[in-house]
Amino acid sequence: MTCEAVVAIDGPSGSGKSSMAKNLAEEMGLLYVDTGSMFRALALVAKKKGLPLTSEGITSDFLNSLEIEYGISENELIKVNGENLTNSIRDHQVSGLASQISQISNVRDFLRGFQRNLVKMKTCVMEGRDIGTVVFPKAFCKIYLTASDETRALRRLKQLQEKGETTLELSDVLRDVRKRDEDDSKRSLAPLKQAEDALFIDTTLMSTEDVLEKLKNIVLEKAKIRGVELKKVH
Ligand code: DC
Repeated sequence: MTCEAVVAIDGPSGSGKSSMAKNLAEEMGLLYVDTGSMFRALALVAKKKGLPLTSEGITSDFLNSLEIEYGISENELIKVNGENLTNSIRDHQVSGLASQISQISNVRDFLRGFQRNLVKMKTCVMEGRDIGTVVFPKAFCKIYLTASDETRALRRLKQLQEKGETTLELSDVLRDVRKRDEDDSKRSLAPLKQAEDALFIDTTLMSTEDVLEKLKNIVLEKAKIRGVELKKVH
């Protein structure tokens, strides 16, 4: 079976997949792709335009009017129609909007096409909810990362506090994390779930260094076994 040169990392929010995927890509010279940022950016643009986040509101005309630029640099991770949204997509309220827009089928089709194009030139470490199950079902390496609800909420709260968010309590974040898990895993379209051939890693009791080391070894081993050449960014 020919496989796709993508490291697919899926998992719920706060599982550590974003920072792990980013570090892994950097250390291995691969392209880091955060697909959540794309759902966030689209939700933000639609909201600013006053469009309802429903299949009636998000039309093909709207989607086709968007020019997305991804991965120019760390400070310009995502731009839509020339506007840099890298920072604004991280606001707490954008998480819920992204979860809403991610349930619309033409949004998923549109972004799937965009995501598949990104891997044509480079080997990507792509993270999201459905990368190993739907976007790249033949990815040579699939990982499913998770951690306990409490650990994930705590990590998320820390990130938000670092951004200057001071009003939220751990209980608020825990409730939002659970609600989003439920929405993301129970939706009918491309729900969050572990691909059958993905390696399951629970990061609750693991240090960042240990997870990273483990991931690097898995990627190198899988690339060797499957005969995949890792096309580096630099
Ligand atoms: O990973 P994140 O928290 O930035 O993702 C924001 C939302 O986008 C999340 O609630 C679900 C959705 N999402 C998705 O449906 N599929 C992906 N591949 C990535 C994110």
